[in-house]
Amino acid sequence: MPGFKKFNRYLCTLMGKKYSDIRKKIIQTESQWGEDGPAFVTHYLQSQKNGAAKYYKKGAEVYIKNIIQEPEFNYSIPFTYDVPFPPPKNSDFKFIDLFAGIGGFRIAFQELNGKCVFSSEWNKYAKKTYDANFGEVPFGDITQTDEKKIPDHDILVGGFPCQPFSIAGVSKKKSLGKKHGFLDETQGTLFFDIARIIKGKKPKAFLLENVKNLKSHDKGNTFKVIEKTLKKLGYIVFSQILDAKHYVPQHRERIFIVGFNKEYFSESIVFNFPEPPEEKQQIKNILQRNVDEKYTLTDNLWEYLQRYAKKHREAGNGFGFGLVDKNSVSRTLSARYYKDGSEILIPQNGKNPRRLTPEECKRLMGFPAEFKIKDIGVSDTQLYRQFGNSVAVPVVRAVAQKMIDFISVYEKERISKVNGINSSKDLKSHFSRKVEEDVLI
Ligand SMILES: C[S@@+](CC[C@H](N)C(=O)[O-])C[C@H]1O[C@@H](n2cnc3c(N)ncnc32)[C@H](O)[C@@H]1O
Repeated sequence: MPGFKKFNRYLCTLMGKKYSDIRKKIIQTESQWGEDGPAFVTHYLQSQKNGAAKYYKKGAEVYIKNIIQEPEFNYSIPFTYDVPFPPPKNSDFKFIDLFAGIGGFRIAFQELNGKCVFSSEWNKYAKKTYDANFGEVPFGDITQTDEKKIPDHDILVGGFPCQPFSIAGVSKKKSLGKKHGFLDETQGTLFFDIARIIKGKKPKAFLLENVKNLKSHDKGNTFKVIEKTLKKLGYIVFSQILDAKHYVPQHRERIFIVGFNKEYFSESIVFNFPEPPEEKQQIKNILQRNVDEKYTLTDNLWEYLQRYAKKHREAGNGFGFGLVDKNSVSRTLSARYYKDGSEILIPQNGKNPRRLTPEECKRLMGFPAEFKIKDIGVSDTQLYRQFGNSVAVPVVRAVAQKMIDFISVYEKERISKVNGINSSKDLKSHFSRKVEEDVLI
């Protein structure tokens, strides 16, 4: 219906610009901007009417006024967020997205009507994927971010880098004679940046995620330090290892750490992680049909992988490729999958096995169908890295839902107890705004 489409386009011009117009302008002029310029502008645009704009106004105006120099790009002109995951209009709570990657946490918390008021990610390509999906460019290096410049928020989320804690990371670093864990000054200390922000901003709750091995690293000492640090900051801390295989056809064990601020919650609270669903996951359900030949392993690579596996089998250890059983779940997708794809290979009739396509990786990590990865200027290699580094979205969704339900119920009960006394901090909170209406009528 071309007529209808034309009318729609006409309506759009009447209603104002689209985010994609603004993004084009940002990309065209980006080379003249400071590193965080696009982050300031996009955070500013997203922060109208939620109290966070003041944190970004000064930084954003420099670019809007001096570089774009077009009144039509004035932030106050309403525009449409033509991205797959636009910010909610009237949110119930605010959160920040640290070590944001491509936004696996953000999808889950935004679905629960949370408004992200700050994101940080330093990888250029992850930023691109993030922007294409959420209409926001994350700020860069978190170690250089002053916590006072981060807006107030209810929940802090972050899957901090796992290299120093994962077995592969540790053994590789050990073999190179490098320090690891907290001794690794560049990576391990990133947890302390999270701690610094929690200390400065005192969110109501946080959700952190890392590899399972964080718990046993350095005979459990690393995890003890993390837990002790978080408790010392005034939080009641819960943690559990969850396997994504109950939600997506992939064995992926990760530790989730949840904390609740003692200023709002009683020390006797008990938070229960979600029970895994019973439904059996099968990788055949996420496979694409008619996959391009470029994903089939070359003879050279396939022979090499078989030789390598044989050598290790004979030496008595289990390294090798992972040819999947299509009725079962795959091994863990790692950030190095782009190299040879050996951990997850799909058998094919009459030819060499193939690796997963980026679209299949997206599905294997449980990202929604509308998550955009095509025509965004990000290569297959970078997409493999991004999904391998990311979170299984349905697992985060389940934990996030539990947290929001827990906080709402807790505050509802508190409100019933104080019954009308509105001096309590809880009554002013974003979460209780909704339940307050229900409880206090
Ligand atoms: C384990 S991944 C987290 C991925 C994320 N949870 C997602 O859903 O995609 C850790 C991320 O932290 C980013 N990172 C590492 N050091 C950083 C730093 N100093 N500042 C900002 N981001 C950093 C990495 O580029 C990587 O994308």
